[in-house]
Amino acid sequence: MLCGRTNVNKFLIEEQRRNPALFGDFSMLISDVVRSCKAIAQGVSRGSLAGVLGDEGRENVQGEAQKKLDVLANQAFIHHCEWGGHLAAMASEEMEDIYPIPSEHPRGKYLLVFDPLDGSSNIDVNLSVGSIFSVLRCPENCNADAPIAADFLQPGSRQVAAGYALYGPSTMLVLTVGSGVYGFTLDRDIGEFLLTHPHLVISPETREFAINASNERFWEPPVQRYVSECLAGKTGIRGKDFNMRWVASMVAEVHRILMRGGVFLYPRDSKDISRPGRLRLMYEANPMAMIVGQACGLASTGRERILDVLPTSLHQRVPVILGSRDEVERIERYHREHETGEDQPYKSPLFSTRTLFRND
Ligand code: F6P
Repeated sequence: MLCGRTNVNKFLIEEQRRNPALFGDFSMLISDVVRSCKAIAQGVSRGSLAGVLGDEGRENVQGEAQKKLDVLANQAFIHHCEWGGHLAAMASEEMEDIYPIPSEHPRGKYLLVFDPLDGSSNIDVNLSVGSIFSVLRCPENCNADAPIAADFLQPGSRQVAAGYALYGPSTMLVLTVGSGVYGFTLDRDIGEFLLTHPHLVISPETREFAINASNERFWEPPVQRYVSECLAGKTGIRGKDFNMRWVASMVAEVHRILMRGGVFLYPRDSKDISRPGRLRLMYEANPMAMIVGQACGLASTGRERILDVLPTSLHQRVPVILGSRDEVERIERYHREHETGEDQPYKSPLFSTRTLFRND
């Protein structure tokens, strides 16, 4: 028996005692989110046995085919989090509009934003998926009796908590409440998340990057420059070989980066110019940016820090570059150099980025 391990509830209560700025029922709200993740973990792990795989036969607000598990996971969050009295409203990838807490339940001072099943195209092939969540306070001028979408449109720097559950070989919960990042592993025998990874820190240096390379021809020059330098390895200006990974599940990529460093890019591209990026700001980029920042990494659009982006709509997309600090800063510099004209590949055949004469 594993007596003495800290479960997530004990962790939250201690955290709340340490940080009086987290008022009222905050830890109970996270406990409700944790219960949602346990329920989703159960559905994901039973897969075909539970008849939950396959398409729902509808599209979500993003125009993406909804999986049955997308819908079930969304319902799990609503079911476990709507009645506790901690929330005024919720918003998710799977719902076009916000979900105000129904009037039969008390309403609280927090807002919950979530992606109930991120990377869900992986689910039918039995690969890792996850849930991502972010907790915001209702703004001062919010009418708790009639919350509106604008109440959610706060920069990521105002998040009070963020986390994800990774449904992988084991189920893990990774959480920050603004003072470091903690990883818990689900012990299925006792149904509890136990603290297994205290104080996660991302190493500032890395030799590993993750990007969907099939989009290369659509990338902007700073990203093309960065990736081509990584690919050049020891023979190029980086002077070291890089490894590349792509799971196509953001939760799994961020988790790998928390465990062993690395950089993840889903940058702006020209594949569909109506979209400034693929990933969603409120329930993918912001919570991951808070986690990565709390673990000493960095998250950027290439042009500004993700946590500073002022949201204009609930389902807004944003370019995402996150992970090991030195790499993200380098990629930000490449964006700056491109914009100021310092980096103009191919302008001069002798002195451009791709010639023998460049030596930085
Ligand atoms: O929508 C989110 C997502 O599934 C992420 O989890 C993942 O990083 C990305 O999309 C995968 O994109 P692609 O289909 O281009 O590989």
